[in-house]
Amino acid sequence: MASGDWAQQQKMLSAAGLLVIGLDAKDKIEQLVDINPLIEAAHSSNVKLLTTQSIDQLLSLVSIDEVISEDLQNPTKKSQATLPTPDNPSPIGRVIAPISGNEISPAPRPHGLSHYSLEDFPMLAKDIDSEIEVHFDITGNSVTEGKLSDIKSFFNSRLSQIRNLMIEGRSLPRRPISNADAYRNRQRYSSNEYEITIVGLVSEPRWAKSGNLMFLLEDETTQIQCLLKPPSGANPLHAALDGLMNDDVVGVSGFFIGDRTDLFIISNIHLPPLPRRAKNTASIDESVSAAFLSDVHVGSKTFLEPQWEKMINWFKTDPLAKTIKYFVLSGDGVDGVGIYPGQDRHLAITDLFKQYGALAMLLSDLPDWVDVIILPGNHDAVRPAEPQPALDPEVQQDYSDAVFVGNPCDFSLHGVRILSYHGKSIDDFVAGLRSVTYAKPEMAMRSMLERRHLAPSWGGKTPLSPEPEDSMVIGTIPDIFVTGHVHGQFVGDHKGTTIVHSSTWQDQTDYQRMLGFQPKPCILTVINLHTHASASIPFA
Ligand SMILES: [Fe+2]
Ligand SMILES: [Fe+2]
Repeated sequence: MASGDWAQQQKMLSAAGLLVIGLDAKDKIEQLVDINPLIEAAHSSNVKLLTTQSIDQLLSLVSIDEVISEDLQNPTKKSQATLPTPDNPSPIGRVIAPISGNEISPAPRPHGLSHYSLEDFPMLAKDIDSEIEVHFDITGNSVTEGKLSDIKSFFNSRLSQIRNLMIEGRSLPRRPISNADAYRNRQRYSSNEYEITIVGLVSEPRWAKSGNLMFLLEDETTQIQCLLKPPSGANPLHAALDGLMNDDVVGVSGFFIGDRTDLFIISNIHLPPLPRRAKNTASIDESVSAAFLSDVHVGSKTFLEPQWEKMINWFKTDPLAKTIKYFVLSGDGVDGVGIYPGQDRHLAITDLFKQYGALAMLLSDLPDWVDVIILPGNHDAVRPAEPQPALDPEVQQDYSDAVFVGNPCDFSLHGVRILSYHGKSIDDFVAGLRSVTYAKPEMAMRSMLERRHLAPSWGGKTPLSPEPEDSMVIGTIPDIFVTGHVHGQFVGDHKGTTIVHSSTWQDQTDYQRMLGFQPKPCILTVINLHTHASASIPFA
């Protein structure tokens, strides 16, 4: 259905028992190219009145790109309408079937990467001073002793931070009550006329044979067994179909079934807010670029040295390279030593300090105008538990002009907020959610943003440090969110945040070959901080 066909839309909405309140709401609906996802979301959320606010909330449940009008995404398409204006001498009328001449389209780039225009990268990096503001870095701030009480505060901190985000962001239909209050009064809350909302940490999520998702929801008071039935026509990314991660924080609305059973039937599940937003941009006179890479794995026999030389040469000669002020290296700079059994066989440099020395040499070949920011990853010589502190000062002394930060690190470059995380938890997301695979790490990143947490699962593949305050919560939504670890490459957008999965400099390993995984090495991702245009440059 074409967008803006209000009569048809109104017919469908009233057939679905939905009432539109206000002209703003009507305008909003007219911009949708397909209103079926909105109707389904309203049904599954028991919403009858469509106000601008409830429409926004419902649209946050479905993939926005499915329902936004094509006209909004590509306004130039409207130019075909040619109604006359008094001061416009151009022909009056309407072009029914425009005939356009053959257009020469540019040849595909290597690896199928998108084209970029140099005009979107307007400023030379050497023309400005660097401006890095770090908002969160665990280095020197880790206070946990790993006691049971630390673990308790860690989870309580996560629960209260994300619950507050939900309350303040109006993700919940009513004020939540504690699990203990809900359970104590379960006979009263035993039908959909007496629905309540509770918020807690998920544990033991599993699908029953019926296809319903079962899990325990625990808050500071007690835990409640919950059942989530997939709503009819639900998006595959709905939690009932995609799954939940152990230790996710979610809100649920529903009621207890029967008089004596303890089962809570969920009619609606609530995630923290993630509104579509406009990015912060650097000003025009700071319109330099940042480049993203990770997983160089220096010291490995599969490190691609000739391709690195090719990149260095590009840095010295290419006009785009001259706009790169920052080079963000998001972990696994070296292959490390003793990271997995039998690693020695795969190492060209078996001494850890020599690996870091070799990385320092490689980075020193970058032009002077480039500032390097280095995070650790799971192959680096720091504690594996996240958040990880920056590399040891003894290692740092080999590097000139590099900024060492922890993993994850939340920082701004000229006002553009960047969240850089190595991405070890992608392993857990692959295991936990149906939508996430190693070939699509961006789906894990999307899921991290949606649940406002980088690594929810305790006791999985990602070691977590039980700091009294859980800093893996995504408190501030970043403008650019970058991860690595999986050795893929991706640039895209999720609700206004640019998602970068940065590439590796390591060729396919024996282990990856055995698993049939093909990495995407030697692609540098460049983003301009003013225009937010991206360019992906292949060197392999
Ligand atoms: Fe890696
Ligand atoms: Fe890694």
